[in-house]
Amino acid sequence: MNHTSERVDGIDTVQARLRINGTTHVLDLDPRVTLLDALREHLGLTGSKKGCDHGQCGACTVLVEGRRINACLTLAVMHDGDSITTVEGLATGDVLSPLQAAFVRHDGFQCGYCTPGQLCSATGMLEEVRAGWPSVVTTDVAGSPTLTDEEIRERMSGNLCRCSAYPNIVAAIADAAETDA
Ligand code: FES
Ligand code: FES
Repeated sequence: MNHTSERVDGIDTVQARLRINGTTHVLDLDPRVTLLDALREHLGLTGSKKGCDHGQCGACTVLVEGRRINACLTLAVMHDGDSITTVEGLATGDVLSPLQAAFVRHDGFQCGYCTPGQLCSATGMLEEVRAGWPSVVTTDVAGSPTLTDEEIRERMSGNLCRCSAYPNIVAAIADAAETDA
């Protein structure tokens, strides 16, 4: 539940309790603050990137309750009580997640700006495939989706890469999906 907590610079702030990468943070926020700005500006979690700030590039993708979401398109206070995973939370200590390791193996990044969003998006996407969710290119929507390159490209189409590392990103995701199977 949100609580109006105090007035800062003439703005009534709202308290939000966010569980991020396993740690609970209680923030007093201007209700207009996006989840992306709360992560980056209020908590110093700068792994999630601001590319377009308009829901078009996917650089800000994080997982909310396990589902991928563009953090620039949602308000932080809407996620009071939610469990959020950012790129900083994908590894276990120094051990990379299978997907992170596959990105390294396949050279799936160049400048790395889009990579946190690609990693969070692909993590969520692989769960969607495991849950049997079809995509627009799935031919047998009643069956279990097969993760072809075409499926990966379609399912990751919300994540842009200005370096055009796409072939290696697709290879990394395919590899991680197989390793994890
Ligand atoms: S910064 Fe959120 S989609 Fe581009
Ligand atoms: S690796 Fe540079 S934007 Fe994707």
